[in-house]
Amino acid sequence: MNDAGPSFGLEDVTVAQTRLSSIDGEEGALLIGGYPVEDIAPNATYEEELYLLLHDSLPNAEELRDFRADLARRRSIPDEVASVVRRAAREGRPAMDALRMGLAAVTLSTDLGDPSAAEAEDEALRVVAAMPTIVAAYWRFRQGADPVSPRTELGHAANYLYMLRGEEPSQSDVRGLETYLNTVVDHGLNASTFAARTVVSTEADLVSAATAAVGALKGPLHGGAPGPVLNMIQEAHDRGNCEEVVRARLDAGERLMGFGHRVYRARDPRADVLSAAAEQFYAGAGRENVFETARELEAVGSRLLAERKPDRRLETNVEFYTAVLLHGIGLPAELFSPTFAVSRAGGWVAHALEQKRNNRLVRPVARYDGAEGRTWTPIGERD
Ligand code: ACO
Repeated sequence: MNDAGPSFGLEDVTVAQTRLSSIDGEEGALLIGGYPVEDIAPNATYEEELYLLLHDSLPNAEELRDFRADLARRRSIPDEVASVVRRAAREGRPAMDALRMGLAAVTLSTDLGDPSAAEAEDEALRVVAAMPTIVAAYWRFRQGADPVSPRTELGHAANYLYMLRGEEPSQSDVRGLETYLNTVVDHGLNASTFAARTVVSTEADLVSAATAAVGALKGPLHGGAPGPVLNMIQEAHDRGNCEEVVRARLDAGERLMGFGHRVYRARDPRADVLSAAAEQFYAGAGRENVFETARELEAVGSRLLAERKPDRRLETNVEFYTAVLLHGIGLPAELFSPTFAVSRAGGWVAHALEQKRNNRLVRPVARYDGAEGRTWTPIGERD
């Protein structure tokens, strides 16, 4: 608890204009590039949605073919990046640390200083294309295996799974992942996107912006929640008792991961999209079914939070069903946050380009409440 006024944390403060996504927190509605998330996410490929963010319209077949090829040919990472993530994997560093370090080093391959508009889009595609390769290389090293080279004929989602596993994924795994990537690609001025826009507002480059954004996404209040969500669901599943597990966390004064949102006062619409995708996915997959446990835990969590915080509507957020869906696809919990970053990189670069086109240095103010009127005391005279 702090003594912050409502604008601390920049709540409800408008600091940019965007055409990329629109959130109605009261109604629980999200538009991405003008399309309701529940319409576009389960239908589009990630490349179509990225094109929409960058060009403000869906591509036709020819445009999509060229765009896919443009993205795919930027997938390779410099050897030095692979070395950095190999070291991170050997030292057991978290995947988000490895991603942050690897991404910061991708500029070793090219000079990306002061790009023109066309070069800025090139830089944007490089960032988005490199992310899955970095994450997959890290994961392969963690398994004691060699990285798998990207394949240009595979789509963004399929290639990511291919590089992680070393074998082509099933259509249903690709569709599940693609729906996830499309659902979380952009979401207004969340902390990581704001970090990216702030960096670009100084006229710094997109790789620096995306690297800062990865750091912002790492924290459990933003992108780090789905791992703990899965632990909670798994614990409830194993014990066969959701209520006990939720109560134990709340009684310990913990926040219930995967519940609550800064903007939504209704249900997070992305939770609905991912819940529907997960339900479909588990029904066809014949895998261990944590979906039913998740549904029950959601009901119990919402009820207990309503009892304890009657003034606040705390429902499941996007991270809750992220955990369920990505677990169903077979991704390990350690890769949940990096996979979020793989998707959100599209939003970061689209926002960064928007900021560049209509830039004003981001420079808010702080209210000073420190000491005043002090005079310098030499070190020998201090108590
Ligand atoms: N569990 C228990 N209590 C909660 C939760 C929760 N998940 N979320 C909010 N609260 C309570 C707070 O304790 C606080 O109570 P108090 O006023 O008695 O102290 C009250 O609700 C308001 O909390 P704030 O922190 O002011 O709300 P904020 O808008 O900042 O919270 C946040 C948003 C950070 C997401 C919060 O709901 C939370 O911590 N959730 C759990 C973590 C999580 O799921 N993060 C993923 C978010 S989605 C995303 O970023 C992609």
